[in-house]
Amino acid sequence: MTIAITGSGSGIGAATAAALRAAGHDIIGIDLRNADITVDLADAAARDAAVGEILRRSGGALDAVVLCAGVGPQVPDPNLVVEVNYRATVALLDALLPALQKGENPAAVVVSSVASTQIKWEDNPINKGNEAEAFAQAGDFAGSYAYASSKNAVTVAVRERAAAWGAAGVRLNTVAPGSVETPLLQAGLDDPRYGEAIRNFVAPIGRNGKPEEIASLIVYLLGPQAGFIHGAQFVIDGGIDAQTRPTAV
Ligand code: NAI
Repeated sequence: MTIAITGSGSGIGAATAAALRAAGHDIIGIDLRNADITVDLADAAARDAAVGEILRRSGGALDAVVLCAGVGPQVPDPNLVVEVNYRATVALLDALLPALQKGENPAAVVVSSVASTQIKWEDNPINKGNEAEAFAQAGDFAGSYAYASSKNAVTVAVRERAAAWGAAGVRLNTVAPGSVETPLLQAGLDDPRYGEAIRNFVAPIGRNGKPEEIASLIVYLLGPQAGFIHGAQFVIDGGIDAQTRPTAV
């Protein structure tokens, strides 16, 4: 398979790329650094150019896409959080659909977060179009508000595409990890505003996840054994969502 992976330079994306490479697939890695295609996905013109480069390298046909690039709540600019985690992800999804339609048993996975469940779409400032005002009012916590909003929006965007992508013959799902040991989590732990809350966010299973554990779910969702899985979100969080919201089914 030919597979494009954003965020391939680190953490969950790097683990996913390694697992798929080990299985013999051709990977096109896209990231700020350590990648086949080096690009800042927050820059709309640069990401359009990156799409062109993905299509050139793949010959216009992709069997799978994994959109993993993201920034955490500690990033000072909430607009950057929304741009990378939500707008860039949706832009790439839409731009790469025609290439996926030319692939074999094509599928895509977007890496969202359990944070997607922390806010309702009806209250999401991205939906309401009042991001600047809402994030300004959140003060020191603008980053975590922007993070939850961006992940809620990207999960909704995937669900909204289930009908069209199903008709196009391309499966599309999200994974929603809890705390996973990556540089993104470490940056949150090192941040004085968020460190303690993240440390206290201990999953029932008693530990954080490892990037390879998220990668194995992504690999499964891309493969033929997941042929009927479409438009779904898979929480992979050591049980923390069940613990905090047991009746939210
Ligand atoms: P990471 O920091 O190890 O990897 C993220 C990758 O995205 C990095 O290689 C980074 O360079 C790339 N990236 C960031 N901004 C970019 C930009 N503007 N253009 C191109 N590439 C860019 O972090 P991790 O944890 O592997 O994150 C992967 C995804 O998993 C993210 O979407 C994150 O929100 C999500 N996630 C992570 C959790 C965790 O606890 N680590 C929990 C839930 C979701």
